[in-house]
Amino acid sequence: MARPAFTDSETSDDAVRATCDDASICKRYAASKGYWKDAFIQYFVRQTSDRKAPEINRGYYARVKGVNYLLDAFVRRCEQNCQIINLGAGLDTTFWRLKDENLLPRKYFEVDFPMTVARKLHNIKSKPPLSKPIIETHSTDTLLIDSQSLNSDRYCIVGADLRDPPMLEEKLRKFQLDTQLPTLLVAECVLVYMSPEQSSHLIKWAASTFHTAMFISYEQVNMADRFGQIMIENLQRRHCILAGVEFCRSLESQKDRFLSCGWNKVEALDMMSVYSKLPAEDVERMERLEFLDEKELLQQLLQHYCICWASKDQMALGLTKVSY
Ligand SMILES: C[S@@+](CC[C@H](N)C(=O)[O-])C[C@H]1O[C@@H](n2cnc3c(N)ncnc32)[C@H](O)[C@@H]1O
Repeated sequence: MARPAFTDSETSDDAVRATCDDASICKRYAASKGYWKDAFIQYFVRQTSDRKAPEINRGYYARVKGVNYLLDAFVRRCEQNCQIINLGAGLDTTFWRLKDENLLPRKYFEVDFPMTVARKLHNIKSKPPLSKPIIETHSTDTLLIDSQSLNSDRYCIVGADLRDPPMLEEKLRKFQLDTQLPTLLVAECVLVYMSPEQSSHLIKWAASTFHTAMFISYEQVNMADRFGQIMIENLQRRHCILAGVEFCRSLESQKDRFLSCGWNKVEALDMMSVYSKLPAEDVERMERLEFLDEKELLQQLLQHYCICWASKDQMALGLTKVSY
């Protein structure tokens, strides 16, 4: 029997799902080299024999530390009385880090395509270092778990398509999403894979659903220049289309998207600036790990990614002050 033909959108969704492996493999490699500590990523991805260049490792260092810095600052501002929704979480390990550091919010939600969630759940179920922290923070003997979701008191993972916010909300509400609680939404390298209309829809949904919230987005910027064009072409070659690249023209276009979608205060920095604002002592330690020949390449890489963070603060928790 002939194999059914895949539609273009199926092929491109597959390519988008595959980006999660790229990210986790690079994170695992850099963590194994000592760029930062992550005791849990080893349970999600195998170490590959491929060496990653020092500028890639430093780029990931800036990404992980940069996002964590704002995320931790949000949780501390709320005195942990908050929830986090990691959108397009892939194989991210932040829940386990926060548990280790006694910095868990009231509830930590993760969302990704059902197929990716099923993979993550398989690892969680079969590896005690991943399942133990979930069980330890759960109050009853019964844990709701099926092939597309897991719901415990403090951790929830659910399969959903971020391009359909009403369905996303329905699924999250089923698992005790509390729209009255200060909420942090995180999208690390995710919005760029959605069309401008789709990401705007998601960002608008977040602004209208939560009265006290912050949204952290990490993704490409300055993509209209030559280096940006090469990045786009490299991804296209792997059938990965940056459908939302229009918002990645500049820091201004990144900020405008949030401002026009209902967020009150927005800031954005390219990763070169974030890098220079990270705690100097740890940056010096990290820079001693590997000799870097290609300083210019690192600079170019860092100039082509950014962190944009938006807030609205009806409860006056001081969220607009969360910064580097
Ligand atoms: C580059 S990976 C990043 C994973 C994780 N945020 C990290 O930084 O390690 C992008 C992730 O977004 C997810 N994603 C992209 N578009 C999505 C959508 N429409 N619905 C659900 N997940 C999506 C992909 O499946 C993938 O896991």
